[in-house]
This record gives sequence, C-alpha cells and structure tokens, in this order.
Amino acid sequence: MKKIAVFCSGYGSNLQAIINAVKRGRINAEIGLVLSDRVDAFALVRARRAGIPVLFADPVALPDREEFARYVCRQLTARKIDFVVLAGFMRILAPYLIRRFRNRIINIHPSLLPCFKGAHGIREALSHGVKVTGVTVHFVDEICDNGPIISQGSLKIKEDDCEQSLAKRIHKLEHRLYPEAISLLLEERLRVKGRKVYIDG
Ligand code: GRF
Repeated sequence: MKKIAVFCSGYGSNLQAIINAVKRGRINAEIGLVLSDRVDAFALVRARRAGIPVLFADPVALPDREEFARYVCRQLTARKIDFVVLAGFMRILAPYLIRRFRNRIINIHPSLLPCFKGAHGIREALSHGVKVTGVTVHFVDEICDNGPIISQGSLKIKEDDCEQSLAKRIHKLEHRLYPEAISLLLEERLRVKGRKVYIDG
C-alpha cells in the first residue's frame, strides 16, 4: 500500500477529511506521517487522535529553507513516503524537496487559480467582487500556487457573503475535492504533460 504524508500548519479540516476518506476506504493509502511547522497546530491533535505518527519540523531550529527541505526529505525517505499532500501548509518548500518529489507533491488552494494566489485567496476573491470563486488542487512546482492543475470546483459568491460564510462553503467543497484528487494520484491515473494534467481511465 502507498504511503502519504500530510503537511499542515493549522486547523487541519482537510487533514480530517483525508483521515475520514482513508477510514471509509475512499483513499487506498496509509497516512504515514503528519508533519507541521507549528507545534500548536490543531492538525497534530487530529493526527494523534487517529494514531498517525506526527512530526513537528521546527522552522526556528532550521531557519534556512534549503536545510529545512533537506531535513524534511530525510524524514520522508526514512518513512518510505510515496506522496506528499499539502493541506494548509503555510511554508514555501525549497526546490530541493520539489525536485526529489517531482509530481508527487500536491496542494489545495481556496480560489480558482491562477486568480488570487497566496495566503488570502478567499478574502481577495470577495474584496475583488468576483461572482464565482472556488477551489484548485494542483501539483506543486518551484513557483508558489503555480503547478499543473489537477481539479477545480467552483461556487457562486452571494451578495451577502462575508469571509466566514464564503470560507465555510469553500471548505465544504475542499473536503470533497481533495480526497477525490488524492485517490487519482494514488491510483497513478494522473499524467502531467507541460501545464496539463490528463486523467487516465
Ligand atoms: C484551506 O482553505 C486550504 O485551501 C488552504 O489552507 C486552508 C487549510 O484549512 N491551503 P484546514 O487547515 O485544512 O482547515
């Protein structure tokens, strides 16, 4: 069975959706590691509750991005991790790690990329006044929120939406979309050609 590592910095609702999907057999993998760059991330509590090995990768002890990446890579290799799933991980990964896990790291972003990249995708979509926004699952490359797109889901912004109400619907969509994409990745049905991702079968 394939092994995945999930990287989180915060609340971990996507991690929870992944844990649930594994339990229900919708994702055929073992979560071999939950890694966080924040010792107080609630995601770590969720992982411990589920009996998943956790690791706090301390960015203060490893201030150099490259060193951080080398440390993380050693951990992944030692635990025989096949794929890395970023779920609210707020740190940019150094090219060292991306090269070693080329097309084996994915991320979820709360906007329809390439719009509203960065840490405030929901807020920026709302303040820009777009009528439709959504969620993007993509491969991670050397540029932030840029890699080839695996899947997207859209939703309408309501006139009376605030950041919280919109975030609630975005997260609901994420919790459906991410396990589906992870499953395709694990089944090795995703083929990357340039910027395009083809789904086999
Ligand atoms: C999600 O909205 C995800 O798209 C973004 O960070 C958020 C993480 O939420 N990358 P959670 O920690 O999974 O609840």
